[in-house]
Amino acid sequence: MKKMLLVLVTIALIVPVAVLAAQHQAGKAKTVDELAKMYDVSSCKECHAKVFEEWSQSIHSRSLVGTGRTMATIRNAITDGMMKEWKKSGVKEVKDIRVEHMMSCTKCHLPQLQDATDEVAQQIAKAVLDGDEETLNKVSINCIVCHNMKAIVHKWVDGEPEKGAVYGKLEGPHPDKNYPAMKTSLIRQEAIFCGQCHGLGPNFELKNPTQCATLYGSYLHNYVPESGLEAQKCHECHKNKKDRGHRFPAYRDPEMLKEAVNVEVQTKGYQLLYAAGQHIPLAGVVVTMTNNAGHRIPDG
Ligand code: HEC
Ligand code: HEC
Ligand code: HEC
Ligand code: HEC
Ligand code: HEC
Repeated sequence: MKKMLLVLVTIALIVPVAVLAAQHQAGKAKTVDELAKMYDVSSCKECHAKVFEEWSQSIHSRSLVGTGRTMATIRNAITDGMMKEWKKSGVKEVKDIRVEHMMSCTKCHLPQLQDATDEVAQQIAKAVLDGDEETLNKVSINCIVCHNMKAIVHKWVDGEPEKGAVYGKLEGPHPDKNYPAMKTSLIRQEAIFCGQCHGLGPNFELKNPTQCATLYGSYLHNYVPESGLEAQKCHECHKNKKDRGHRFPAYRDPEMLKEAVNVEVQTKGYQLLYAAGQHIPLAGVVVTMTNNAGHRIPDG
């Protein structure tokens, strides 16, 4: 009887813990492949071929690797940060890494990691350490991240983004089997939409705040007040102008680089009579640089 009681008590203790753990993990991706499948956009190519091609050329489509610099810096955040300087992070090896740790970077570089288990955070960390770009490029800031997950900011007013809907301008049926509805995103043309990742300053909501991109802060507090009625939105310069589209280009695009700054140089040459018969040629130079971007440059 005593034994029986003990078994019962043990079961009673184990079950709630197991149930809680299962609930916590329910519906979450357990591998990078599962996360990629959850956010699969291969079907979009069929009907939105031009948009898909442009997005494939954009840096958003390889947001964990970037130009290579992103992957290398995330590696430093793991080895020099989590495993060394952030002494109280609890991370000694890859197996100690949780979603929360990776969110220091993936909050913006891969926000859908919130829908994955700690095992996925570890797989991504390992891929970063191994320089395994193939694995990292399976997941990125893709169509679903912008047209569903990030399409609503004020969730206590407008609710959570609905599963199975693509958010854009239109409302109505949508001919994709996984996304059968179109809904209107109120922020699709607003800077706040991009501002969700393009940063204001330190990310204070993190246990160990990081600061990467802060350009949205500079847009809000500097460019908009200074430009007044002339102020443009992010997508006007980066998407709709000259049909830049979903490439969302910046300085790597020679045309945008040229647009970024006006440099005006005025010079006046003169000679200094140093001593009788000794002239030293001199010049006065005035350089005026004007930043034409909607924010400070460079950033990130
Ligand atoms: C889900 C987060 C997220 C959203 C939303 C987002 N971006 Fe980005 N964006 C990023 C990240 C992360 C990078 C940098 C990727 C890298 O280099 O690793 C980036 C890079 C860029 C770049 C640099 C491109 C280059 O070639 O260097 C531009 C321009 C840009 N974004 C514009 C926009 C605009 C405009 C919007 C809104 C319409 C927007 N982004 C919305 C996260 C986001
Ligand atoms: C607040 C959102 C946010 C967070 C958090 C964030 N980043 Fe970024 N990061 C961006 C955006 C947006 C860019 C786009 C480039 C820009 O603004 O110039 C970027 C650009 C970069 C770049 C330059 C990319 C290139 O190829 O030139 C590196 C490197 C980078 N991030 C690494 C990191 C690392 C490492 C972490 C974590 C420690 C991190 N970021 C956290 C949003 C963020
Ligand atoms: C970084 C965020 C971002 C990503 C990634 C993204 N979009 Fe968009 N998309 C936008 C914004 C912003 C608009 C403009 C909304 C407006 O002007 O009404 C837009 C507009 C559109 C439109 C309307 C036509 C147009 O070009 O303006 C379609 C269709 C579309 N996106 C499909 C896609 C598909 C398919 C993908 C993936 C291949 C994708 N988008 C990836 C932000 C994004
Ligand atoms: C079978 C064809 C088909 C597929 C597949 C498809 N779409 Fe669409 N999509 C359409 C059509 C048609 C429209 C309506 C366009 C219009 O009326 O201007 C549309 C509209 C949209 C819009 C709204 C554009 C706006 O201006 O409001 C977005 C966003 C969008 N699709 C994203 C996606 C994404 C993301 C995927 C992949 C998950 C996808 N679509 C797959 C055909 C398709
Ligand atoms: C008036 C036009 C204009 C507006 C508005 C604008 N940008 Fe830019 N942006 C530019 C130009 C031009 C560049 C190229 C200079 C560069 O990359 O250094 C640029 C560069 C960038 C870069 C790369 C920064 C770097 O050098 O590391 C990002 C990211 C970016 N913009 C995002 C945004 C976002 C997000 C918004 C809205 C909050 C926005 N831009 C508003 C014109 C604009």
